[in-house]
Amino acid sequence: DNGTKPYLKIYRDYFFLVDFPRDLKSIPPFEVREDDIWISTFPKSGTTWVQEIVYLVMNNADTGKALQTTIERRVPFFEYPIPGFKAISAMPSPRLIKSHLPLSLLPDQMKAKKPKIIYVYRNPKDTVVSYYEFLVKFLTYTKFTGKFEDFCRLFTEGKVLCGPWWKHVTEAWARRHEDNFLLLCYEDLQADLDKNVRIVAEFLGKSLTDEQVARIVKHCSFDSMKNNNTVNYEWFKRKGLARKEPKFLRNGKVGDWKNHLSPDIVKQFDEIVATKLPMDFPIKDTLS
Ligand code: PPS
Repeated sequence: DNGTKPYLKIYRDYFFLVDFPRDLKSIPPFEVREDDIWISTFPKSGTTWVQEIVYLVMNNADTGKALQTTIERRVPFFEYPIPGFKAISAMPSPRLIKSHLPLSLLPDQMKAKKPKIIYVYRNPKDTVVSYYEFLVKFLTYTKFTGKFEDFCRLFTEGKVLCGPWWKHVTEAWARRHEDNFLLLCYEDLQADLDKNVRIVAEFLGKSLTDEQVARIVKHCSFDSMKNNNTVNYEWFKRKGLARKEPKFLRNGKVGDWKNHLSPDIVKQFDEIVATKLPMDFPIKDTLS
């Protein structure tokens, strides 16, 4: 087993939700490198935001360079068909790679090679809103057409792609003290982006000037990224993968769930947080 079997299972199990455009049975073996940098998240937790930050930290805050190529080429999505394993395998080091797979389903070689991993989590109530809006309203190829309430139920049952959410984040929490592991959270990025850019730079062994940090913070603001055609997934629309009106950078707020979740659903999510996460796991969903 070259580590690909679990991917097949996870995607086969959840095919009823999302119809991926390629047969994932054809995934070839994948060589992990020690100097890879992985950005690992449950979907809709701030992945793209951290992809752009990491790219800029690794490229001396060269925003001009970032603006030349889409994020899906600069920081490719491991288990997605675009650009695919072959292209990622051919990338020069250090590679920056995004994945939504639970940490336990990443290639076995990760254990021996110990590449750096930056994991980002977000409070589950905002995550479920963002996930539904993305899968059902933004993408054109999602099979699931149910209501938001139905999607919330699947989320709380652990039946959405890459779920259960609580297992995904608990695996990351367990590794937070490892040298090659950095745990970030969306709400902290919102509260102090400057500080988090410095945390990322230190973790990656990069020293940035105050001016470079300021340039990254400005470039990675919600408004700037929303209008940046290399990170806002507008190219999905040209390819027929996304609908015209909805935006990938949709709202970008902490606490937007208050406009979407019924009291009943809030209760279910609170119960998950209370019963399925480690006692000390910090959920920062109280800001509004
Ligand atoms: S994906 O498809 O899983 O990779 O999506 P992901 O990038 O993880 O999550 C998308 C949500 O992150 C928000 N986002 C941002 N918020 C604040 N500032 C910046 N710069 C930023 N960039 C992306 C994006 O708006 C999505 O959240 P919602 O709540 O849907 O707006």
